[in-house]
Amino acid sequence: MKTTLWATLTANGNYAQSSPDNPPKKEALEDFAAQAKAAGNFIVGRKTFQEMSDPSRVSQEEMVNTEGPFAGIDIVVLSKNIENIPGVTVVKSPQEAISYLSQKGHLTALIGGGGDIHNSFLEQGLVDEVIFNVAPVLEGKGLNLLIDKDNYRFKAVRLLDCKPLGSDVVQLRYAIDR
Ligand SMILES: NC(=O)c1ccc[n+]([C@@H]2O[C@H](COP(=O)([O-])OP(=O)(O)OC[C@H]3O[C@@H](n4cnc5c(N)ncnc54)[C@H](OP(=O)(O)O)[C@@H]3O)[C@@H](O)[C@H]2O)c1
Repeated sequence: MKTTLWATLTANGNYAQSSPDNPPKKEALEDFAAQAKAAGNFIVGRKTFQEMSDPSRVSQEEMVNTEGPFAGIDIVVLSKNIENIPGVTVVKSPQEAISYLSQKGHLTALIGGGGDIHNSFLEQGLVDEVIFNVAPVLEGKGLNLLIDKDNYRFKAVRLLDCKPLGSDVVQLRYAIDR
């Protein structure tokens, strides 16, 4: 199974964080919805899932009902502490998320965030492709995507595509040879 990590970066290279006064760009959200639809699934951390289903933004039913942007999509939530969340599949490790989607017949798994989840997949060498949307914003101290949080090491990647999404967002796609 192919795994694709989808993330937004800031223009100064941070792993972008969103907040009510710094929301994600519409173009980036639309791209995520399109990638999720194409894959038929996405994997997220428990905190990002809760952020996405914040009742002030969207109800939990709306996330998974037949009308919403994620209708019919297999949503996999990673948590070490929570066993069950209605309407989604909860798993305890990145490998379990991949095994579950693979067993369900998915060909691609889309890894949607947040930082802990993206870094767990990267550190464990479980990513075949990355899609970075570079947003037109600079941040101060923030989060990073790392292939190793303890040691310096590097991994060359191959540029597959580079295109503007609109509203000054640029999308970069890279292949990672495993
Ligand atoms: N730049 C982007 O593309 C992007 C995308 C999404 C989110 N974000 C940002 O990322 C931040 C949220 O990310 P986050 O790192 O705090 O949270 P997160 O990755 O969404 O969720 C973390 C939770 O996932 C579970 N978890 C983490 N690693 C795990 C593992 N290896 N196996 C099983 N479960 C695991 C734990 O849940 P339990 O505590 O329940 O055990 C942990 O508390 C926010 O600032 C958000 O705006 C950015």
